[in-house]
Formats: sequence, structure tokens, C-alpha cells
Amino acid sequence: MSEQNRQELRQKVQQLAHQAINENNPTAWFETVYQTSNGDPNQIPWAKLSPHFALEMWLKEKQISGKNKKALVIGCGLGDDAEILSKVGFQVIAFDVSPSAIAWCQTRFPHSYVDYEVGDLFAENESWRKEFDFVFECHTIQALPLKVRSEIIEKTSQFVANNGQLLIITRIRDSETPPQGPPWALSMNELNEFEKQGLILIEKQQFKTKEMPEITTLRLEYQRKD
Ligand SMILES: C[S@@+](CC[C@H](N)C(=O)[O-])C[C@H]1O[C@@H](n2cnc3c(N)ncnc32)[C@H](O)[C@@H]1O
Repeated sequence: MSEQNRQELRQKVQQLAHQAINENNPTAWFETVYQTSNGDPNQIPWAKLSPHFALEMWLKEKQISGKNKKALVIGCGLGDDAEILSKVGFQVIAFDVSPSAIAWCQTRFPHSYVDYEVGDLFAENESWRKEFDFVFECHTIQALPLKVRSEIIEKTSQFVANNGQLLIITRIRDSETPPQGPPWALSMNELNEFEKQGLILIEKQQFKTKEMPEITTLRLEYQRKD
């Protein structure tokens, strides 16, 4: 994709996101992005069509096996992260607020063992509370504005079972000043909120890529020890 197309896509997404926020529905724009892409992944700014490299590395380094374990993928997008978790043995539920994204996952992976579901992180789901041995989120928290940040951190944390793990992949910012999003990279104070939810930070790994050296990505591993 040319730099001009990339800029245009960025502008479109910014516009949709701000319109949704002004209408007090910060999640509304995702379905529009998926729907108006007409099945072209180049029109989805975050679509990689492969698992996130930091998740793949983590699974390999730690030799993770998900046998007899339940995993939840929050804001699963086009499903690649959910699929790799299924491949290492987890019984995976992956949800996204966008029906078009979920339909796309089902088309891409017709023989998948992953249970793809349309769902909203902000909706109550009592039966999922402390239900998952492994919870994964990549770039979903940063895709939502700061005014829902504490709520989304609370909702994300509540799914983690006792002794279960949460793995987050996110951009971070180096000050507490609110950023111009999307994305709204996380600050250190915001990350500290996970520990207020009963989670303990086990490992923090920082990444930079050659393509985007100005961006710092963190992979954070938490565990619930109740
Ligand atoms: C930036 S994308 C990241 C997608 C995927 N995790 C990835 O890394 O490719 C954020 C995703 O979160 C989903 N999302 C946003 N708000 C959500 C909510 N309240 N509940 C569930 N999914 C949500 C969007 O539809 C979108 O697919």
C-alpha cells in the first residue's frame, strides 16, 4: 500500500472514531470500518493476517501448551491470534463487537475449533467472570478513548481465573498527557490499574520495529493470585 493510501485510511479511521465518540458510542466505528472494507484486509489498518509476533514469541519462549485450558480473546479482529492459541491446544472463545469481523473470521477459518462470537466487552457477562485460564488482548484497549479506559481495564481483568494469566500487547506513551488518538497508547499510570484489579505483573517486554521506530510496544504478562 502506498504512503498516500495509508494516510487516507488513517484519516478515514480518525474521522469515524471521533464521530462515534461525539455520538457517545466509542465502539460504533469498528463495524463501519469492517463493513466498508468490502472484504479487503488492506482497508483494515490493524489487519496483519498473521498472529502478532510478540504473542508468537511468547508462546515459543515459554513453550505454552493450552491443553485442558480455556482462553478468551478480546476484540479478536480477523482471528489470527485466536487461531494460534487454538493450535497450541487452548479451547478458545474469541469475540468482537463487529458482526462483520466475526463473519470474516468464520469465512477465513471454516474448520476452526475457535468459538467466534459477536460480543461487547462493556456488556455484562456474569458466566465469564474468572472463567478463563488465559485472556489475551492485542491493541483493543488502545483503540478506545481514555474516558472508558478504567472500565475496559476492569472488564478485561475480570475474565481471568484464579491463577490464570492475562497477556496484553499495547502501544505505550511516555507521559500522562492525553494522546491524540486513535490509537490512544497506554500510560504507566493506566497500566498500574491492572494491579488494582488483583493481577500481579509477571513479565514486561518492550519492542520496537524497524518499520515504526517511533512506536514502543509492550507485552505484559499478569497473573491472578487470589
Ligand atoms: C485495533 S483492533 C485490533 C484487532 C485485533 N486484536 C488485532 O490485533 O488485529 C480493535 C478490535 O477491537 C474490537 N472492539 C472494539 N471495541 C470492542 C468492544 N467493546 N467489545 C469487543 N470488541 C471490541 C474492534 O472491532 C476491533 O476488531
